[in-house]
Amino acid sequence: MTRRVRKAVFPVAGLGTRFLPATKVIAKEMLPVVDKPLIQYAVEEAIEAGIEYFIFVTGRGKSVLVEHFDHAPELELLLSERGNEHDLQSLLSSMPEPGRVLSVRQQAPLGLGHAVWCARAIIGDEPFAVLLPDELLMSEPACLKQLIDVHDGVGGNVVAVTEVPDEHTNRYGILDVVSDDGRVAKARGMVEKPDPKDAPSRLANIGRYVLDPSVFSHLDKQLSGAGGEIQLTDAIDATTGAVPFHGVRFNGERFDCGDKAGFIAANVAYALKRPDLADRVREAVGHLFK
Ligand code: UTP
Repeated sequence: MTRRVRKAVFPVAGLGTRFLPATKVIAKEMLPVVDKPLIQYAVEEAIEAGIEYFIFVTGRGKSVLVEHFDHAPELELLLSERGNEHDLQSLLSSMPEPGRVLSVRQQAPLGLGHAVWCARAIIGDEPFAVLLPDELLMSEPACLKQLIDVHDGVGGNVVAVTEVPDEHTNRYGILDVVSDDGRVAKARGMVEKPDPKDAPSRLANIGRYVLDPSVFSHLDKQLSGAGGEIQLTDAIDATTGAVPFHGVRFNGERFDCGDKAGFIAANVAYALKRPDLADRVREAVGHLFK
């Protein structure tokens, strides 16, 4: 019987250099797709997966991410006085209960593994989720829910994966696969950003994880990996064997919003899903493609 996944870590302390100058003072995770910041999509995905505690790993200038999940009393009063129930609900609908949003500080962006390690005291000794908010995953059910359903059966470390072209393996953590039933792949390890010629497979992690707390014993060592950063991939790789490791093929549409083209595609795709916007957006951009 695996333990229930109650806590999720949102690493949001990165510098977002690929989005400069937009991210000079605004956190990348606050960039909106249509009318919601990226972080809100990630939190809503976690809520749908049954997560109860939301842990933000922030850095300088990122406190606004925590603010976003607090009340805005003046605005709420104004909307309520105007009888603007729709906008009021948009502010209130995905706000976690009091005491369920926590934050820790990563004083320097030393890598994703380091960011997750900063949450170790809050996680303690239970399985937990990690969501990278710049990966926007559109699916039914939500990607994290798909992972937790698999984790309920197999335990250990479970990550979301997708198949990438050979020439893209050096952008991702790549799984070393033992067996694969077409949806769930059992793996014996994971390598961060391998050259195509060294890549053990083409199954790439896409920013959603359910992890065993034993990853912290590797992260405690603070070892640098690919790109000189403390890599979460290396901690998962080091724990494999002691705990099972599986990749779950993500069933849905993925937008890499850390990248400009992916971010723009996400805006178009999400707008086209909105009945109040789809026609207007088609009309506004259609002629640009002729
Ligand atoms: P990325 O590498 O995609 O984000 O990290 P980045 O470093 O902010 O972006 P670029 O490459 O400079 O444009 C994935 C996630 O991990 C977080 C980031 O905030 C992002 O959500 N992260 C990364 C941290 O919290 N701390 C780190 O040290 C590194």
